Amino acid sequence: MLPDNVFVSGHPLIQHKLAILRDKSTGPKKFRELIRELSILLAYEATADLGLKDVDVETPMGTAHCRQLTETIGLVPVLRAGLGMVEGIWEMMPGSEVWHIGLFRDERTLRPVHYYNKLPVSPTVQVCLILDPMLATGGSATATVDILKKWGAQRIKYVGIIGAPEGVTRLHAAHPDVSIHLAAVDERLNDIGYIVPGLGDAGDRQFGTA
Ligand code: PRP
Ligand code: URA
Repeated sequence: MLPDNVFVSGHPLIQHKLAILRDKSTGPKKFRELIRELSILLAYEATADLGLKDVDVETPMGTAHCRQLTETIGLVPVLRAGLGMVEGIWEMMPGSEVWHIGLFRDERTLRPVHYYNKLPVSPTVQVCLILDPMLATGGSATATVDILKKWGAQRIKYVGIIGAPEGVTRLHAAHPDVSIHLAAVDERLNDIGYIVPGLGDAGDRQFGTA
């Protein structure tokens, strides 16, 4: 049983696209398109509880009582594989700021190595969406949340595509306040830290670098 703030989408569009994404015969161009589309759909679900304020809008026919977002949003893609998740979501939320964080997994220890961020001294956004397709051991996601919390981020959500049970457990245990939004939780990690059945290496499949 998953904790209350871990969401695995059962949406038919998400599940259909995920099946094509996983397929080893899907090439980099199609893979990037699917990452983009899945990211938009997952972010749509992950942002369902954003704050709204009442506003009156003058239409050509009268006054409409409407609602608009109150919170400022930061998109935080984790390099490299998170890059492909940004563009589509940004189009849906063009007022968002984008803050890149560079982490890679040391292949021997599986520990995250932090190599890049240009976060300003204090936070400029109220809600951060961490974007990274793969939640494997959970080391990278946990380190990213650590960085954002140290920065002062108040509200953080993790938007990924496939998680391993080990990664979900680790991220939730370290940061129970961070909601986790995924398209699937798979069976397990293999002995080199890859998600099984997963989709292989998300960075290599996007950028054609296998
Ligand atoms: C992948 C993925 C995550 C990380 C997940 O990145 O995009 O950032 O692995 O693994 P973890 O949960 O065990 O930390 P990778 O290190 O392959 O870097 P890349 O995207 O630059 O190829
Ligand atoms: N990173 C990936 O890209 N794929 C995995 O299965 C695990 C980590």
